[in-house]
Amino acid sequence: MSPGDGSGPGGSPVEGHGGVSAGRGEGAVTAWVRGEIEAGGWVRAGAATAQRLRERYGADAVADLSLGQPLEASEAVRQAFERAASAVRPRRFGYMPNLGYPELRERLAEDVDVAGVTAQSVAVTVGAAGAISMALRAFVEAGSEVVVLAPYFSEFRLYSEVCGHRLRVAGSAEDGSLDLEAIAAALNDATGALILNTPCNPSGHVVTEEEMRGLALVLGAHRGRGGRPVLLIVDEVYRRLIYPPHRRVEPFRHYQHTVLCRSFSKDLGVAGERIGYLALHPSLTGAESEAGLALCQRALGYVNAPATAQLALLELPTWDADATPYRERRDTIADAVAAAGLQAAECQGGLYLWVRSPWEDTMAFTAALAERRAVVVPGVAFGVPDHFRICFSVERPALQVAAQALVEAATSRSG
Ligand SMILES: Cc1ncc(COP(=O)(O)O)c(C=O)c1O
Repeated sequence: MSPGDGSGPGGSPVEGHGGVSAGRGEGAVTAWVRGEIEAGGWVRAGAATAQRLRERYGADAVADLSLGQPLEASEAVRQAFERAASAVRPRRFGYMPNLGYPELRERLAEDVDVAGVTAQSVAVTVGAAGAISMALRAFVEAGSEVVVLAPYFSEFRLYSEVCGHRLRVAGSAEDGSLDLEAIAAALNDATGALILNTPCNPSGHVVTEEEMRGLALVLGAHRGRGGRPVLLIVDEVYRRLIYPPHRRVEPFRHYQHTVLCRSFSKDLGVAGERIGYLALHPSLTGAESEAGLALCQRALGYVNAPATAQLALLELPTWDADATPYRERRDTIADAVAAAGLQAAECQGGLYLWVRSPWEDTMAFTAALAERRAVVVPGVAFGVPDHFRICFSVERPALQVAAQALVEAATSRSG
């Protein structure tokens, strides 16, 4: 897969693109914000299209496969939030330590389960987005390049640019595995960090031990901006949604200059509660890093992760997630895609199926799907325009709508 230009949805057959409508306040935002609004918004555009289709045809007739929305939270999680909301403790509604309640940091360090990782290694964050942003802000000098691997989660661009970094995109192999040569070629003396997302949104690839070893060798042999080691930021937002026989690999065992960025958004189904954490490799752990992260939590304006969500995590005896409902949906949609004669990468983890467009014009194909009431996200949103992404984290009837739309669209005409 080669990285595309990532250009935005202007002229997209998906309606309701991210453009700004005329009205009060027009021209008030900065040039950077305007540029990003115009360049991005594909997932949002898909959600807007789905909303219009729902109004026209009814909710049950539409498959909104655009947004990476988790399934509903379990009863145990809901009850934990209820108890947390009514918890009584000193300064329950006051300011708290920037990096989170100490007892939660202890438990999160145990969750990482690597020798040398302590509460001091851990910061409770505003989701994985907050964790990645804090890692970039704390450890990567402004003006550095941040390497991402296409197909990539497009928010990485926003997190990086806000911190004064530039994105450099390296491609991946067709099956989503790492292309170490492409990664090596992307490194230069301005490199500050590389973001690795495993399981990957959108490709579903889970990095293997061998790949991680290879990546560590490539990164270890390089010195980036200021002669410093490249920071490896591992986005593990889907780590509890890995489907056997695939298994998680421990990045800390391979490369020291690593930060793990995690959240409970997807596996516990609490994306709106904005709770996650970051964990530093023991070699990065120390008083200065801790003070630096606390400063960045404030500098980015988060101050601390939401108190109720922190208390809810403490209320839960386990954070284990049941991946079965996701795996079943993955199987259903993978079968539907195969039945439609389409090629998809194996989804080894996460919520998405990454499908090669059967037509040269991917936008035309995704529009053909939308006409059949199935809304997906074109691959240009992830830097690879000849694919599209299906989010299968939806109610089962929607998967049936999607299955029919895929077959009909794929056989409607040749692209
Ligand atoms: C790859 C990836 N990283 C980070 C995030 C952000 O996660 P959070 O909601 O925990 O901030 C998402 C959300 O969709 C994601 O897909």
